[in-house]
Amino acid sequence: MKAHSDKKSHERSHEKSNCANLELIHKKPEDILRSRIGANRRAPSHAQTLLDHTMMAASAPVSFRLSASTGASFRRAAGKQARLPAVRAQRALAVSAAAKSYKITLLPGDGIGPEIMKTAREVLEEVGTQYDINFDFTEALVGGAAIDATGVPLPPETLATCQASDAVLLAAIGGYKWDTLPAAQRPEQGLLGLRAGLGVFANLRPANILPQLIDASSLKREVVEGTDIMVVRELIGGIYFGKPKGFGEDEDGNRTGFNTMIYSVPEIERIARVGFETARKRSNKLCSVEKSNVLEVSQLWKEVVTRVHEEEYPDVELSHMYVDNAAMQIIRAPTQFDTIVTGNIFGDILSDAASMLTGSIGMLPSAAVGTDGPGLYEPVHGSAPDIAGQDKANPLAQVLSAAMMLRYQFGEEEAAAKIEKAVSDCLDDGYRTGDIMSEGCTQVGCVKMSEILMAKLKA
Ligand code: IPM
Ligand code: MG
Repeated sequence: MKAHSDKKSHERSHEKSNCANLELIHKKPEDILRSRIGANRRAPSHAQTLLDHTMMAASAPVSFRLSASTGASFRRAAGKQARLPAVRAQRALAVSAAAKSYKITLLPGDGIGPEIMKTAREVLEEVGTQYDINFDFTEALVGGAAIDATGVPLPPETLATCQASDAVLLAAIGGYKWDTLPAAQRPEQGLLGLRAGLGVFANLRPANILPQLIDASSLKREVVEGTDIMVVRELIGGIYFGKPKGFGEDEDGNRTGFNTMIYSVPEIERIARVGFETARKRSNKLCSVEKSNVLEVSQLWKEVVTRVHEEEYPDVELSHMYVDNAAMQIIRAPTQFDTIVTGNIFGDILSDAASMLTGSIGMLPSAAVGTDGPGLYEPVHGSAPDIAGQDKANPLAQVLSAAMMLRYQFGEEEAAAKIEKAVSDCLDDGYRTGDIMSEGCTQVGCVKMSEILMAKLKA
């Protein structure tokens, strides 16, 4: 039985878990081998923008090196608006590297959040000691925890603290207790407000197969083997944020509920560029997913993505797919995909589907970034209220999200790789939480997994 089972009502459920250590997520097998023997390690370059960092590290093999022109072309393409922040981001990276002190806001949130965040914090403190990095942690409230304490899911102090920090590490929000609140007051609004407040429009959600966990996938080995997908999800627009929205009444007096799926040309352009840049650093294949056979918003999406492709990224192999077909193809033949770029709600759904290929959503980290400022790093899974407080949670996606933060926000490649290696070592030794358990392995709880992880880190 899977420990993280439930959450029909909690999309971010931990239950659907599985994943890959980031090192494996971003590297081809030969690169993993190389990196294991310490060869060919990519040195962080502070001359890259935050986005360059994110896209590269989230996807590129370890042997990948960003050519000077790639970063420049992205900045050129992104236009004036992106240039300034990019310069500021560079400066921030350079300053951080010299001072080696980072302000991190920790948002443990709800459900299993506090349990897994505890592990991530310990892990960060340990690598901080080893690599001489000082972390200045501030904990803040978000989601249900914030509702209970302050009446709102995103207290203004929390957003201000996050905006003033160098990066934000979030665990998960939501739970049964707040399920009956009207949508506008639910914990989820805290997360959406945070994403919007930080301007993190690009959400990178990797899904690839960890060799150690392949048998945890609900699909056949021959279908999933070799899967390595990066979903680039637009995160602060589309139907999640479109107006008008609300409840009303139709002409016959029937109650109605409505939302608006809307994208502007600049919103599509900027996420398309992240998609193309990400694809360039992987297999140069981008699939744009929409529903242009029905929706006007998707017709615009397709038109803009096609134009950006022609004008700025003709070297990338671009394909278009309707979202219903994409959902089917991800399950039928996942290895046909490399990078997928899509809107907010389609990305929400497809990234969950893609995560299942890898066996468990409980291993998947994600990064959400804008053109400047702190990124938001969080596991793809949810708060798993069904197992909260029972020492059953898998802390690894949270820990890998912390590693993603170190690499993409701060260029702390060695510390990030150290964490990823420790995670991989735990799996190699056969330790599994309930969500990724398979025959012949040793099932452990969150506390035990964390202890083993710490021991691996210190080894
Ligand atoms: C996710 C989650 C969130 C989303 C919810 C919790 C608001 O499902 O991060 O995928 O829909 O974006
Ligand atoms: Mg989701």
